[in-house]
Amino acid sequence: MELRTPRLVLREMREDDWRDIQTYAGDRIVCRFMEWGPNTPKKTRDFVRSVLTEPASRPRYNYNLVMTQAGTLVGAVRLTIRSRDDREADIGYVCSRPYWGRGYATEASRELLHFGFEKLRMHRIYATCDPRNGASWRVMEKLGMTREGHLRQHKFVKGAWRDSMLYAILEREWRAAARASTRASRRGTR
Ligand SMILES: CC(C)(COP(=O)(O)OP(=O)(O)OC[C@H]1O[C@@H](n2cnc3c(N)ncnc32)[C@H](O)[C@@H]1OP(=O)(O)O)[C@@H](O)C(=O)NCCC(=O)NCCS
Repeated sequence: MELRTPRLVLREMREDDWRDIQTYAGDRIVCRFMEWGPNTPKKTRDFVRSVLTEPASRPRYNYNLVMTQAGTLVGAVRLTIRSRDDREADIGYVCSRPYWGRGYATEASRELLHFGFEKLRMHRIYATCDPRNGASWRVMEKLGMTREGHLRQHKFVKGAWRDSMLYAILEREWRAAARASTRASRRGTR
């Protein structure tokens, strides 16, 4: 599967992507607030191999897609269905450091929300991050997500308890925002 945005193509991972993925997955600064990393090359290769099985899995729960810009791998996004009964999923995103601050994570995640609500028929999509990760929760806010909580000692990460910020968006909120954005672009005010 492949998703497109004005500047990005989000596509399934390929085995030979691991070197490009390692440039961010092995980067201490990129991984500062992540639950994983920095990765060894082996760890990244093993991760990529595990992701290669996702497209064929039925039912499919995980969508790990790389973000490419003019053919260059600049990051990755993920959507995971957490409950089919509750139609709930969560998303995550990461960018290689040279590509930070260009709006790529927001643009890619916006498309992933579209996919989650329109194609997967999700009811609620959430995301969490380390409260110190200002860039990450800013992305959630730009996506129109609502801050639902500050979860105390939510994760045991790299040897210590860590709080999480929880953001979410409901299908009806996403549809209302999508309608408003269409109206604004018709008026040329977007
Ligand atoms: C989080 C991350 C994916 C954002 O990617 P990005 O493509 O740079 O994101 P965008 O450009 O779409 O938006 C980033 C926003 O955060 C803002 N920002 C950047 N650093 C910030 C900080 N320390 N505090 C608050 N806001 C910050 C930017 O100004 C921008 O907001 P703006 O458009 O209003 O100016 C990227 O920083 C990253 O890969 N970080 C490491 C991995 C990670 O933490 N992933 C999320 C795990 S929950």
